[in-house]
Amino acid sequence: MSDIIRTVNLRKSFKKGRGQGGEVLAVKGVTFSVEKGEVFGLLGPNGAGKTTTMRMLSTLLTPTSGEVKVAGLDLSAGAEEIRRRIGYVSQAGGMLRDLSGRDNVIFQAKLYGMKQKEAEARADELVRLFHLEAYADRPVSTYSGGQKRIFDLASGIVHKPELLFLDEPSTGLDPQNRAHVWEQVKKLRDQGTSVFLTTHYLDEADALCNRIAIMDKGELMAEGTPEALKGKYEAKTLDEVFLKITGHIMWNPGA
Ligand SMILES: Nc1ncnc2c1ncn2[C@@H]1O[C@H](COP(=O)(O)OP(=O)(O)OP(=O)(O)O)[C@@H](O)[C@H]1O
Ligand SMILES: [Mg+2]
Repeated sequence: MSDIIRTVNLRKSFKKGRGQGGEVLAVKGVTFSVEKGEVFGLLGPNGAGKTTTMRMLSTLLTPTSGEVKVAGLDLSAGAEEIRRRIGYVSQAGGMLRDLSGRDNVIFQAKLYGMKQKEAEARADELVRLFHLEAYADRPVSTYSGGQKRIFDLASGIVHKPELLFLDEPSTGLDPQNRAHVWEQVKKLRDQGTSVFLTTHYLDEADALCNRIAIMDKGELMAEGTPEALKGKYEAKTLDEVFLKITGHIMWNPGA
């Protein structure tokens, strides 16, 4: 199996706010790899460094130091080439509120170089695939949080990336929409897409991820398949593993 992501000693520090001096070490030298075709979950409490790690892997943030190889390319190969091969759905989402969901997808498709007709056909395909017909043609500003989230996901795969980054894909979704997102992630995996996601839902990680890593205070504390981690920490559930490693109980409204 070849790696789709490989990091060695990846670090990121941020300057503290104005007048404070000093630095926040958000990611303290993490080393891990993700195999092609797997769903890999990065778990950890608020402020652990998950989003910072994901933004470095997806070329949105320059590492302070360390090595990153993504989709066969070194970061030095240039963001543009890497971005063609990956999709990124941010924690905040990124749709234009005044356009409809469908037009947002068309807009994204054209950013990736598709012609109008091709972009429209791809948007139709995604609207069907994600069952979005009921609201695809009204402005995003009228959507519920869940409707927006599912459209974010559809926009993220418009160019059929080989690697998809999902930052908390199902936060704020009701159980039905969460199940819907899970179904789509599984479908993508079955079609050979590699997925790197962060989540606070440990049942989600257990159900979706081939392997997970637990991060706390900028460091990787554990890594493995959900089953192996449960075995190693003599735990029945990932919640218990998480508690033993980080001392935190995961707040889990979906459970
Ligand atoms: N641009 C920035 N400037 C200064 N500090 C930052 C910046 N971005 C992130 N941080 C800090 O880095 C740390 C890690 O943040 P990050 O967003 O990666 O956490 P997270 O694991 O994604 O948390 P959450 O679960 O809340 O999304 C936090 O202490 C955060 O305040
Ligand atoms: Mg985050």
